[in-house]
Amino acid sequence: MDNDLKRALGQAWAPEFNRVIRGVHHLVLNTEDMKATIDFYSGVLGMPLVGAIKVEDGLGTGDDNRGNPPFENLRHYFFDMGNDSMLAFFEMPKGAKKQGDRDEIGNMQHVSFVVSAQMQLTLKERLLALGHDAQGPVRVSPGSDSLYFWDTVNNIRLEFSTAPSQGDNQAVIAHRSQTKTMARKELETLTDDREWIERAIKAFKD
Ligand SMILES: [Fe+2]
Repeated sequence: MDNDLKRALGQAWAPEFNRVIRGVHHLVLNTEDMKATIDFYSGVLGMPLVGAIKVEDGLGTGDDNRGNPPFENLRHYFFDMGNDSMLAFFEMPKGAKKQGDRDEIGNMQHVSFVVSAQMQLTLKERLLALGHDAQGPVRVSPGSDSLYFWDTVNNIRLEFSTAPSQGDNQAVIAHRSQTKTMARKELETLTDDREWIERAIKAFKD
């Protein structure tokens, strides 16, 4: 890419910062056992099942595949994870795929769900009562506490995050306490392009 074009794209970078994407529509993971997955996400965590379909003919092995798993008519189920977003699973044929390594590049290391502090404790009690492990809550940043636990059906690392001071009205981004100055100091370890850094940190508080 020539430098003029690069510069033009750079200046147009995220023109409506924070207004392009409303939020997560659906996040899709893989399982070998949909029934046990429903028991965990709906039964233990309280996420209602809101979609239960099979992938249409041809989308697995046919020419219309647009990145779907390469198997026909897989189960594709969706859970309500709150705030109008869905967590979804494909059910792979048993033994067809190996367990993923969460620390490989591009893999999902973990996902954290937002809860109130009270709900975080209720869910911890519920996890422990049902024989699951839970670690925390631990303070992970100023005013934010996390509870770590596992979807043991699929070996997925999960987290419940809360800002206790925000009660039932959690506001994730608004709660971030890192300032532009702090972010700038960190980004200076990434590049010495000061113009680029100022563009990157424009959503931080002064
Ligand atoms: Fe996290």
